[in-house]
Amino acid sequence: MTDTLTIRRPDDWHVHLRDGDIMRGVVPYTARQFGRAIVMPNLSPPVTSVEAGAAYRDRILAAVPDSIDFVPLMTAYLTDASKGDELARGFREGVFTAAKLYPAHATTGSAHGVTDVANIMPALEHMAAIGMPLLIHGEVTDHDVDIFDREAVFIERTLSGLVRELPELKIVFEHITTADAVAFVDGSGPNVGATITPQHLHINRNAMFAGGIRPHAYCLPVAKREKHRLALRDAATSGSAKYFLGTDSAPHATSAKESACGCAGIFNAPYALESYVTVFDEEGALDKFEAFASENGPRFYGLPLNEGTVTLERAVVSVPKTIDANGTSIVPFHAADEISWRLVG
Ligand code: NCD
Ligand code: ZN
Repeated sequence: MTDTLTIRRPDDWHVHLRDGDIMRGVVPYTARQFGRAIVMPNLSPPVTSVEAGAAYRDRILAAVPDSIDFVPLMTAYLTDASKGDELARGFREGVFTAAKLYPAHATTGSAHGVTDVANIMPALEHMAAIGMPLLIHGEVTDHDVDIFDREAVFIERTLSGLVRELPELKIVFEHITTADAVAFVDGSGPNVGATITPQHLHINRNAMFAGGIRPHAYCLPVAKREKHRLALRDAATSGSAKYFLGTDSAPHATSAKESACGCAGIFNAPYALESYVTVFDEEGALDKFEAFASENGPRFYGLPLNEGTVTLERAVVSVPKTIDANGTSIVPFHAADEISWRLVG
C-alpha cells in the first residue's frame, strides 16, 4: 500500500478568490496548495477590462504570504459587448490567460454574462485565431429546463454547435457534473478539455437533502445522480489528458449560505488536494493523480509544468466546522468530517 505520494506541484484551473477582506482570508489557502490558479472574474463589477484584470492580480498577489510562490492566472469575463481586440490585448500583454463565458443568470455573479453566444462569435473567432482558451460555465438558464438537466441541455443546444463551428478554439468545459459531459468531452477533439471539482467526485444530489436541507452541499452546477458521480470518478482517474483539476472553490460567508435563499458555492480550498487524493486512492488510481493535478492542465493551456513537488501522506485529518477567512466565518467542504490524506508540504 502506498502511504506517501510525492507529485509535481499542482495547479488549480478554476477558483473564486473574491475581493477585499475575504480575498485576503482565502488566498493563502489556495497559494499553500497550488503553484498557479485560474482565477474566476465574477466579481461585482466583473473583470471585463485589461486594466481591471491587472489591478485584481495585484490585489491577489498582495494577499499571498511572503514565503510562498504563487501565480494567479487571470481571466476576462465575457459579456455581450466583449471585443476580440481587448481580449487579444490582455492575452498578448500577459494579463489574461483565458476568457470565461457565463450564460447570463446561470450562477453567482453572472448577471452581466452572455445572453446568446451568437453575440460574441466575432470575439470567439479572434480568440481561436490567437490560441486564447475559452472557459465555459455550461448550463442553460431556461427555467423551464429542470435544474438537473441544464448541463446536458447546454451541450445539445450550445456547446456541440460551438465546437463544430470553431473546432480550432480551445475550450475548457468547467466543473462538469454529468455522464453526458464526460461523453461529450471524450468524443471531442484535443481542443476540448474539462475541469472536475472535488465535491462532484465525492457527493451526489442526496447530500443536499441528508436528514434536512444542507446548504453547504449546494453549488452550481448542482450535484447530480450517483451514476453521474461515478462517471466523473472514472473520467478523472482514467489517465485521459482531457481532464484536470479545477476546484471551483467558491467561498460564501456562513450567513449567506444558511439563509432562506442560500448562495451556490462550496469552499474547498483548505483541503482540496487531500480531498482529491482520497478519491484517487479509493479508485485504486494514485498513479494517475499527478497527471490530473499537475500535468494535464498546463499541457492543455500550453504552459510549462511547475518545478518543485508536494507530498501527501496517508493520515487522518479532521476538518474543522468553520474556517475564519480574515474575519468571515466560512464552512469548508468536509466540515466536521475526516479525510484520510494529509498534505505534508
Ligand atoms: C460560484 C460562485 O459562488 O462564484 N458558485 C458555484 O456554485 N460554483 C459561481 C460558479 O462557478 O458557478
Ligand atoms: Zn466557478
